[in-house]
Order: sequence, then C-alpha cells, then structure tokens
Amino acid sequence: MSLFPTRRLRRLRATPALRRLAAEHHLHASELVLPVFVKEGIDAAQPIASMPGVSQHPIEGLAAVVDQAAAAGLGGVMLFGVPAVRDAVGSGAVDPEGILNRAIAVAVQAAAGRLTVQADLCLDEFTDHGHCGVLAADGSVDNDATVEVYARMALAQADAGADVLGLSGMMDGQVAACRAALDEAGHTGVVLLAYSAKYASAFYGPFRDAVESTLQGDRRTYQLDPANGREGVEEALADIDEGADVVMVKPAGPYLDVLARVADVASVPVWAYQVSGEYALIELAAAAGLIDRERAIGESLLGIRRAGAETILTYWAIEVAGWIRDGR
Ligand code: PBG
Repeated sequence: MSLFPTRRLRRLRATPALRRLAAEHHLHASELVLPVFVKEGIDAAQPIASMPGVSQHPIEGLAAVVDQAAAAGLGGVMLFGVPAVRDAVGSGAVDPEGILNRAIAVAVQAAAGRLTVQADLCLDEFTDHGHCGVLAADGSVDNDATVEVYARMALAQADAGADVLGLSGMMDGQVAACRAALDEAGHTGVVLLAYSAKYASAFYGPFRDAVESTLQGDRRTYQLDPANGREGVEEALADIDEGADVVMVKPAGPYLDVLARVADVASVPVWAYQVSGEYALIELAAAAGLIDRERAIGESLLGIRRAGAETILTYWAIEVAGWIRDGR
C-alpha cells in the first residue's frame, strides 16, 4: 500500500540541512581508534609501501603521534610492536624491555589521560615463524601453551600501563586466561578487547608488510572461515562469557553481516577493525582516479557504524576526526 502522493520519502533529502537533521548515524572522533606501528631500531619514521600514508614509527617519535591523536580527540591508539629480533616463542612479547611494552609506557605518559592506550596482544610480531602462537612438535599452533604465554603478555602490558588489551590471537580460552592472570595480579581494571570474530582474511595483506611478517602458510587453523557467520556470533558470546569487556569483528567491510548479528546479541560494546587491505583498496583506487577518496572513506566508515560498530579502528582516524571537527 503506497501512500503516495501524501507520503514522499524524498522530502527529508531535499537540502543539506534536512539531510543532516535526518541522518540516523554519525561518526565521532571519540569513537575512532588509530593503529600505530612502533619499530625497534629505526631513528626516523619509515613509510609502509603497501599502505600509502601510514608509517612505522621509532619509539622516539611515538609521543608526537600520541599527542596528535589526542589533539584530534580520538578515543585511543592501538599499538603494534615490530621487534628487531624474533624467536620461536616470541620472548620479546613478555619482556618488559620488549619494543611493545616500552612503547606502551611511552604512550601512556604522552597520553596523560587524554585518550586510551591499547596494545595488540598476540605473538605473530614476535615469533620467527610468524604464527600467532607457539608451535607444537608437529608444527601446529599449540592452543594451550600459547594461552599461557598470552597470560604473561597480558601482565607485561598491564604492568606497562596499557588501558585496553586487544586479544587478537584467536586461541580458545585466551580471554579467560588473561582475565584470571590479571585479576590474580591485582590488575582488575584492565579492559579486555576480544577480537572475537577475526576472520582468516586476505585483507590483512598490507599489514603483514607493516609488521614485516615472516609467516609462511596461513592462519586458517585458528582464525575464522570467511564462510561462517554463526560461528562469529558464537565466538563473541563465548568471549563475553570469559570476561571480555568489548568484542570486535575484523575485518569490517566484508563482514558487516557478522557485525550486525553480533551487535544484536552482545551485552557489551561491539567494535570493528577496518583493516589494512580495506585501507589500501580505497587509497589505491583513489590514487588511480577511480573514486572520490574522501567520500569513499566516509562511506566505508559510516557503513561500519550503521551495521552496529560503536567504535572503529581505522588508519584514517586522525584525518577523519579533522573532517568531523570541520563539519564536513
Ligand atoms: C595480529 C593482527 C593482525 C592484524 C591485527 N592484529 C594480522 C593477522 O592476523 O594476520 C591485521 C590488521 C590489519 O590488517 O590492518 N597481531
């Protein structure tokens, strides 16, 4: 039953002012988080070839980046460490002097409470084989042994002062193990962000360059199969039961259905990670003159927001915060 001509849906679209008034969703700087790569042993920022506009930073440059992020009004920075030396068990991840733990301390000081300092909690940047965990004798990723290392990594990151730990390794039981270790050590206030529905995705390609990954093979025995939506929801529910304060879906753009399903049932905030491949696709298409860069970025983020993400990790966080501030 059409109510036309009484009902005209175009009325609310007629002017910029009406469209602004009628907009269901908005982006806010405080709901954007900037991923930052900190590399050991460099003395100047190094551009990442696969991610135009994104660099690896020396630890000496981190305070300035955090300051920029805070000035932009962002909700946080998510730190990734790129160590100079890697080994089979990822020792650098649990060492208080490891690059990521040192970076956390520097970022916390620079942030001075203006934004949250978040850290990636995973072994892939620290192992010489590039897997997210330690290996069993047969070469498979050993879930339970890995979870023990994650618990020690959680303590090191909490000791360094991180506000939020991003558990991105996709091991079963990782949230419960980290929560228990933190509670036992008196770190009861540390927020656990579970990358619950993290898919085995080709869209992480440029990131592997950013952290100089040595991985041979793939992560399909621990990250989710792109064919599965229900399993992503189940992972999020399990993580909430284990004590996750926030759950995340990753990548974002190709998994908006999973994001919407998780947002429907989660009793905690739901975030999304717009990953390196999503970033690179838009940057390269725009550089080739194929799409309007700013509109594509804005639309990609609004789509993620509309699907149900309350907070979004994106490499464009600072730039987009500027657009929001300028009312663009
Ligand atoms: C694991 C981790 C990855 C990303 C974030 N955390 C890589 C992976 O799982 O292979 C990817 C982020 C991106 O692509 O932007 N430490």
